[in-house]
Amino acid sequence: MTPPALPLVDEVGSAAAPASMQAWVIRPERLGEPVDAMRLETIGVPEPGPGEVLVRVMAAGVNYNLVWAAMGKPVSIFRYTGDDFHIGGSDASGVVAAVGPGVQRWQPGDEVVIHCNQSCGECPECNGFDPMACSEQKIWGYETNWGSFAEFTRVQAQQLVPKPKHLSWEEAASYALVYFTAYRMLVDQANLQAGDNVLVWGAGGGLGSMALQLCRLYGANAVAVVSSEDKVDLCKRLGAIAVIDRREFDLVDRDAGEPNLAEMKRFGKAIRSATGGRDPDIVFEHVGAATFPTSVFVCKTFGRVVICGATSGFSLNFDVRYLWMRQKSIIGSHFANAYQATRANQLIIERKIMPVLMRTFPFAECPIPHQMMRENAHLGKMVVLVGAETTGLGVRP
Ligand SMILES: NC(=O)c1ccc[n+]([C@@H]2O[C@H](COP(=O)([O-])OP(=O)(O)OC[C@H]3O[C@@H](n4cnc5c(N)ncnc54)[C@H](OP(=O)(O)O)[C@@H]3O)[C@@H](O)[C@H]2O)c1
Repeated sequence: MTPPALPLVDEVGSAAAPASMQAWVIRPERLGEPVDAMRLETIGVPEPGPGEVLVRVMAAGVNYNLVWAAMGKPVSIFRYTGDDFHIGGSDASGVVAAVGPGVQRWQPGDEVVIHCNQSCGECPECNGFDPMACSEQKIWGYETNWGSFAEFTRVQAQQLVPKPKHLSWEEAASYALVYFTAYRMLVDQANLQAGDNVLVWGAGGGLGSMALQLCRLYGANAVAVVSSEDKVDLCKRLGAIAVIDRREFDLVDRDAGEPNLAEMKRFGKAIRSATGGRDPDIVFEHVGAATFPTSVFVCKTFGRVVICGATSGFSLNFDVRYLWMRQKSIIGSHFANAYQATRANQLIIERKIMPVLMRTFPFAECPIPHQMMRENAHLGKMVVLVGAETTGLGVRP
């Protein structure tokens, strides 16, 4: 299943779009495991409308949202788009192939990274508050069609940020969704400060590996939580002051299915032994049901639990007394706006934060990393090469 040869843009700078392209597509009738739901199809290349850009995708990052989309859980993504096909993928690096009417800031040949927030651009929220509050706000490649697992993708011009020149296409495709999300969570929503102690769940994963680096950059102390030996070294290299193996704790009572208070206390003790006796000022949450009761419990009095996801389940069962008696806050957070994405991207350009790309796959194997992610059998970020013929291309002097 090799895609048809298209003019390579890596050294040329731009390429005209053909009429059709190869794309990994999900259809309503085959929702299920990613390896079954995703199929390679030939599909028409979309035209950029006003304020939109067509990008030749060079590499595309793997994210958990395509696992949700493939499985049709917790909702079918066809409910959002109304289409009978879905091209997922919310991370990409690429080259601008064409711009729609009214686009001023970008032109064909520009090398870009794409952030995944779309909004209407016209409402007061978009123009004076926060595009994340726009009633039309959507995550590109999840709640919209024409995501990055295709040779071309159609995005809003405001979604583009410059590709850091020192990164290869695959490195540049690996970080935007998780890193910009972690940036908004910690820097804007949870007000990360030097000296804060931060508990980072899933620290060897996509979000977690960027959260660790942000903590280090801001002078905060990150305590990483992982479930395998191979993630320990990675977390330490990314700046964790200590790494806790969650397999040593039964945080949920297996028989009762309830939070296990004795084990949560023991877990809290393990955190304090890493931080010199202090509870976490911030808990970085995205696991949900399996960890949230513990997150609320171990968080410092007046501390913040900032949450953007629920890999292990959306219905949370926690003892709210630990929240109100100790005046803790739960803060919801969702991706990032273009300003936050640009500020965060600048830290990558300045080499203060680095992508954590662990594995690259050819386009023909696109469903495999998604299945690995579904089974938690991966480490850090995975990327699929699309237009880039091989790894290591795209680095500019
Ligand atoms: N709202 C947003 O904008 C946004 C953006 C990005 C991601 N998300 C969501 O955030 C979640 C994580 O995304 P990601 O890209 O970081 O995924 P990831 O790379 O798969 O990392 C998730 C980590 O969670 C940990 N984990 C899984 N099950 C767990 C459990 N039962 N208990 C404790 N830890 C568990 C795993 O680490 P260990 O097994 O090593 O502990 C895993 O490495 C996903 O649900 C995703 O949809 C939301």
